[in-house]
Amino acid sequence: MLEKHKHISFPPKTDFPIFQVDDEKCIGCGRCVNSCPIQLLMLDSDKKARPNERYDHFRCICCQNCAASCPNDAITIQGDYRVHEGFWKNDNLFEGGKTFPDPLYSRNGAKYEDYEDQLTETEKVIYNRRSIRLYKKKRVPKELVHRIIEAGRFAPSAGNNQPWKFVAITNPDVIEEIDQICKKRVRLFPQMLMPHPWVDKQVPGDKNAKPKKWQKTLHYLLSRKTPGDVDQRVLGGINTISSDPEYRTFFKAPALIILAKDVRGIGSPDLDLGICGQNMVLAAHSLGLGTCWVSLIKGLTWDHRYVRKVLGLEYPFKILTSLTLGYPAGQVDNIVARERQRVNWIE
Ligand SMILES: Cc1cc2nc3c(=O)[nH]c(=O)nc-3n(C[C@H](O)[C@H](O)[C@H](O)COP(=O)(O)O)c2cc1C
Ligand code: SF4
Ligand code: SF4
Repeated sequence: MLEKHKHISFPPKTDFPIFQVDDEKCIGCGRCVNSCPIQLLMLDSDKKARPNERYDHFRCICCQNCAASCPNDAITIQGDYRVHEGFWKNDNLFEGGKTFPDPLYSRNGAKYEDYEDQLTETEKVIYNRRSIRLYKKKRVPKELVHRIIEAGRFAPSAGNNQPWKFVAITNPDVIEEIDQICKKRVRLFPQMLMPHPWVDKQVPGDKNAKPKKWQKTLHYLLSRKTPGDVDQRVLGGINTISSDPEYRTFFKAPALIILAKDVRGIGSPDLDLGICGQNMVLAAHSLGLGTCWVSLIKGLTWDHRYVRKVLGLEYPFKILTSLTLGYPAGQVDNIVARERQRVNWIE
C-alpha cells in the first residue's frame, strides 16, 4: 500500500506527550482537571492530579493548559506528538522538541522573566496569552464586548472586503442552548469513524478494537478533503467531550462571540476572520479578560432554523468559529513551550 494511504485511522506508531505531576507540589485544587480541553485528567483518592482512563485512548494535544493553570507549578508535559509512518507521518518535520519563547534570539534558553522588560506590550500579550477555560460568573459589560469587537473590525482583510459579521451573546440560557446543540451534532464524527466500542464512552471500551473496513475507507476519503477534521486527536477530543454530560463546549463562559463569514468574500474569508478574531483575542487579554477559540460551534451550522431565528444569521453569512469571553478564574495566561520555528532562511 502507498505510504500516504497507510494507517489512515489511528496510526499505531505514534508518540504522544506524557503528563507528569509532582505529588509534593500538587495541592488537589482540580484546576488542571477543569481546564483540560480533552477532559483527560482527574483527581485520585489522595486528591492528586492523574490522567484518567480516557488518557490512553484519546490522547493529550500538548496544549499545556493544565500546566499553565496549575497554581503550584506541579505539572510537566514531556515529549511531543510524533507519528512515525503512514499518511499522518510528521516526525520528519521537526527539529527536536518544544522550546520556550526566545524572541531576542539568545539561543541559550534565556528565561522569559529575564528579558520581559525588553519586550513591547503587544509581544507580552502574545507570549502570555493562553486559552482560558476557567471563568468567573461575573458578566462582561457590554462596553467591553463592544471594545473587543471594535479591535476585530479594524483587522486587515483581502481587498478590504471585511467579510465578517458577529453575534455577541451574553444571555446564559442561549449559550447553554447552543452548547447542547453543538455537543449533540459533533458526535457524528466519532460515531462515523471510531471503533464502535470507543464511541460515546466516557471510559473507552475494548482497547484493541479497530475501525471497520468501511470506516477506514470513509476516513481515507474525508482525509483527502478535510484532513484536519479527521485527525485522530480531533476525533478523540470530540468523543470525550460529547460523551461527558458535565462538559460544556463553551465552558460556562459569560459571553460568546460568534464569527460568521460572508461566503462570497474576496480571496480567503476564513483567513480574514482568523486575523480579525486574533485581534479580538489579543485586545481582550490586554484588558485582563480571557478568551478561547471554539470551532466546535460548527456543529450549530447544521441547525439552519436556529441560526436564522435565534442568531439572526442568513445567507451570505455562515458561522465559521467562535470566541468565549469572560474574566479568568485564577491565573491561566502564562508562558509555555511550543515546537521550534520551521523556517527556511534565504539571506
Ligand atoms: C481555530 C481554533 C479553533 C479552536 N477550537 C477549539 C475548541 O473547539 N475547543 C477548545 O477547547 N479549544 C479550541 N481551540 C483552542 C486550542 O485548543 C488552543 O489554542 C491550543 O491548544 C493552544 O493552546 P493555547 O491557546 O492555550 O496557547 C481552538 C483554537 C483555534 C485557533
Ligand atoms: S497538555 Fe492539554 S490536552 Fe494534555 S493533559 Fe494538559 S490540558 Fe490536557
Ligand atoms: S492544578 Fe496543579 S495543584 Fe491543582 S490539582 Fe492540578 S496538578 Fe494539582
